[in-house]
Amino acid sequence: MSATPRIPVPQNLKDPVPMTLPRLAEKKRLREPIVMVTAYDYPSAQVAQEAGVDLVLVGDSGAMTVLGYPSTVPVSTDEMLMLASAVRRGLDTPLLVGDLPFGSYEASDEQAVVTSQRFVKEAGCDAVKLERGGTSAERARAIVQSGIPVMGHVGLTPQTATALGGYRAQGRTSERALRVAEDALALQEAGCFSIVFEAIPAAVAEELVEQLEIPVIGIGAGPATDGQVLVFHDLLGIYDGHAPRFAKRFAEVKAQMVAGVAEYAAEVRSGAFPAPEHTYSIDDEELERFRASLT
Ligand code: KIV
Repeated sequence: MSATPRIPVPQNLKDPVPMTLPRLAEKKRLREPIVMVTAYDYPSAQVAQEAGVDLVLVGDSGAMTVLGYPSTVPVSTDEMLMLASAVRRGLDTPLLVGDLPFGSYEASDEQAVVTSQRFVKEAGCDAVKLERGGTSAERARAIVQSGIPVMGHVGLTPQTATALGGYRAQGRTSERALRVAEDALALQEAGCFSIVFEAIPAAVAEELVEQLEIPVIGIGAGPATDGQVLVFHDLLGIYDGHAPRFAKRFAEVKAQMVAGVAEYAAEVRSGAFPAPEHTYSIDDEELERFRASLT
């Protein structure tokens, strides 16, 4: 038996082809914008698949968007693995990246490799993502050396937002912009295949994209990055309340969901639902026999 994994062969040229690391690098070279979106379950993965995105991130933002935690910090590896496994089942061609949650990789290279292996073995992720430079660059190197592709994440890193002074844009002084640059270069040097830039000035991102050989995916980093990522719930409007400046809403899905459930409730209360077309029938004779057997 061949040890080459089976990769779906596109049936016609319009079918999306599976995203690979070389194809991603090629996209940067050709200046073809890269599209990444987060997903946290089977239906959101199917939406991402059908919409034809290049990469899907099971972000630890899922801690807030689907698990209701106040920040990304409390989510556990087991919770992230459950979300990632569901996404895997709904996904075919985009590259699947799993976000290593806070506290699951920082302590040692061994911890980082063991957690990353769980994302690949148990959830079927193609790659993992971790936040920050510094010691995270060392962890990234260890994970890459273990054979697992790693995506970095610099700028606003929500797992350590408190240390950064809150959820605010980073790199807005030359000194802080230099720190973002050092982190990004260290992650590239460690072998990361791509980096997320979150909430940094567009002009800083533009300078750095030219310096980096690997694709940069921006969120709140302006138009010059090699690609963009948005949180599924931000872009579709699946919640109320504060959204970051960079989170453009492309739909108002929550309003539609509430309207649908409210209409259902109204029809149940008025008796309009269920209608005959939603019910099953039984022959009159069979019904009579059934009634007789009840008496
Ligand atoms: O967790 C997440 O959704 C992320 C993206 C914002 C890049 O890290």
